[in-house]
Amino acid sequence: MNENRIYLCLAHMSEAGMEMKYIQEAFETNWVVPLGPNVNAFEEALEDFVSQKADHAETALKRVAALSSGTAAIHLALIACGVKQEDEVMVQSFTFGASANPVTYLGATPVFVDSEPDTWNMDPELLARGIRERMEKTGRRPKAIIPVHLYGMPAKMDDIMAVARQYEIPVIEDAAEAFGSTYHGRKCGTLGDYGILSFNGNKMITTSGGGALICPSAEARERIVKYATQARETFPYYQHEEIGYNYRMSNICAGIGRGQMTVAAAHIAHHRHVHQLYEQLFADVAGITVHSQPDGIVESTESVERIYDSNYWLSTILLDEQLKVRGEKKAYDRMRHTDCEPNSPVEALRLALDEAGIESRPLWKPMHRQPVYRNAPVFVNGVSEGLFMRGLCLPSGPYVTDDDVERIVNTIKKQLL
Ligand SMILES: Cc1ncc(COP(=O)(O)O)c(C=O)c1O
Repeated sequence: MNENRIYLCLAHMSEAGMEMKYIQEAFETNWVVPLGPNVNAFEEALEDFVSQKADHAETALKRVAALSSGTAAIHLALIACGVKQEDEVMVQSFTFGASANPVTYLGATPVFVDSEPDTWNMDPELLARGIRERMEKTGRRPKAIIPVHLYGMPAKMDDIMAVARQYEIPVIEDAAEAFGSTYHGRKCGTLGDYGILSFNGNKMITTSGGGALICPSAEARERIVKYATQARETFPYYQHEEIGYNYRMSNICAGIGRGQMTVAAAHIAHHRHVHQLYEQLFADVAGITVHSQPDGIVESTESVERIYDSNYWLSTILLDEQLKVRGEKKAYDRMRHTDCEPNSPVEALRLALDEAGIESRPLWKPMHRQPVYRNAPVFVNGVSEGLFMRGLCLPSGPYVTDDDVERIVNTIKKQLL
């Protein structure tokens, strides 16, 4: 890592060095395996965290299995939902490939659903249409639905769950980027039937690599742990009655996770603060919009509850189509064109930021425009492709200071014509 560069989101350890303390303990007690005290304690801490509402009231306790990655968590959740070869799964198109790839691992087909413009996540109306039309065409019900809380922004879960319940299809929430985000006060990842988290190096908290599956019950969790540990049956010898995987989290990684839980609240608060600063500093910049959560509160006699409360894992901006940026004519001179790419002002801005030592990145390229998924069925409205062409992710992690945000915004302003 270059010390003078501002990165999108880097892993940040606790000042107190708690991660090293738990790793050390693992070595001293010789728990250098994919199970052990750190795994158990990390899972308990996660269960407490996800089961706690924004107002600190407890909801029904969810059970959590710590796994080797968020991708592994999606894979196992799909298995738990009974997804098999030739089944179909409704997947949000505007996402990272890992949301969809496990569907393909199972020989099933992802059916991509476009986004609505408010949260940028799965459009519930398009989802309903997609399910209806696929059922008419194939005569079979899709086996699962995977909405994503992209960049930490909660999806319209009430509407998505209503569609899912109407058709009796289980929901696997991809909350990889939404650790700590809440919807109606409840943590993302606990709103569907299963929820997945990622602790990759660039996420809100990290275990270097790792993930977790939030399960609806202790029994469901037990089955997941069994699949994650090669599906061994309870015999003194190795008895296998189902296909299993090596997906459990290591006790060393879980030690990092335990340490990270001590700074999780501070990380989330920092990401939200950085987003607020971007909002403030871009407020008078014509042609640039910071993506922010939809307004909305629910008032009762006891409380006022925010509907959407994003963790703002990454702050993102959209450039107006008319905006002109220095160097836009040459932006693609050194790169091969594809048939779906960010507009040249967006690429010009990314290059200028890079030159200034600032990492930025285009938004996720929708899955339905990825060559690898060219034959997958899709239900589109143009929203995610339009966002991809106009958007950029800006540095948002724990190392990003107020001065950095100011420098980033000023660098962008200087590029506008
Ligand atoms: C939306 C989304 N889903 C799934 C994943 C997969 O998580 P992991 O990298 O832990 O496998 C990621 C992140 O990497 C992600 O951003």
